[in-house]
Amino acid sequence: MNKPTPLFWKVFFGVYEALPRQGPGNRACAARALGLCRELPPSPAILDLGCGVGGQTIQLAELTSGSIVAIDSHAPSIERLKATLAARGLSQRVQAQVGDMAHPEQPPESFDLIWSEGALYNIGIGNALRVCHGLLRPGGYLAFTDAVWRKEDPPPEVEASFDLDYPTMGWVEDVLIAIESCGFEQLGHFTLPDDAWWSDFYTPMEHRIDELRVKYANDAEVSSILDQLAQEPKLHRRFSDYYAYEFFVVRRHQEQAHTQTQPAMNEGLEQQHAGDGAARRR
Ligand SMILES: C[S@@+](CC[C@H](N)C(=O)[O-])C[C@H]1O[C@@H](n2cnc3c(N)ncnc32)[C@H](O)[C@@H]1O
Repeated sequence: MNKPTPLFWKVFFGVYEALPRQGPGNRACAARALGLCRELPPSPAILDLGCGVGGQTIQLAELTSGSIVAIDSHAPSIERLKATLAARGLSQRVQAQVGDMAHPEQPPESFDLIWSEGALYNIGIGNALRVCHGLLRPGGYLAFTDAVWRKEDPPPEVEASFDLDYPTMGWVEDVLIAIESCGFEQLGHFTLPDDAWWSDFYTPMEHRIDELRVKYANDAEVSSILDQLAQEPKLHRRFSDYYAYEFFVVRRHQEQAHTQTQPAMNEGLEQQHAGDGAARRR
């Protein structure tokens, strides 16, 4: 596939930045995952990695009385989150920052809870787990979602779509192996229900695309990009039984020094994760 053009990215962000969330997820799932973190302190220190425009950040602020640092590498999303925080009077308790989750520039062992919905895969799950392990206090929690395969032999269009966006995508078991090898205890995991793909993500995406179709009706290039973007929810309507978003909730072992995680081992797993996913879905 050709490299996306600057116009593609402009239209892409024109659609995505306007959505409540930039990936699947909803408040009910966030509350369920939070409920698995049973021994959180009353006002936990929370880090939200890859926060996007902050759909889940706001929900976390409502569901806890903690302080939150929310990081995303896309500056316009952080600007939008800052505006939302100001409008809701949450700017004191929630800090939104532009940053790279691979190098989040936060003090080691300083968080009680790290949250990340649909974002850790950007830096590789093994690498992300290692970064999170170092930032969590012993006994701290990590709650994250990740896309996984759930049925063998996906149709070519599904395979092509994930090869583009998440070529190393694996299965639930692959993620569980990575979790264990990175010094975490697994507390629970569950599959996001279909509603979590639609309410805050695909339904507003289809509305936004329709809105832009009217605005750019005379621009063939923009209209064709909008057609491309409209494929994703359509694909989901037809083939959602082949893949899922899984919420994983894990806990850093209480007494474990950070040096016990092994980068080389995790890198190996990253490859195994990729290999397994790729091999098993064909
Ligand atoms: C699928 S979106 C999910 C956003 C949000 N968590 C949600 O569920 O609505 C993934 C986010 O990760 C961010 N991202 C990608 N790579 C990143 C990195 N290295 N550091 C920080 N954020 C990153 C993107 O800008 C994007 O906002």
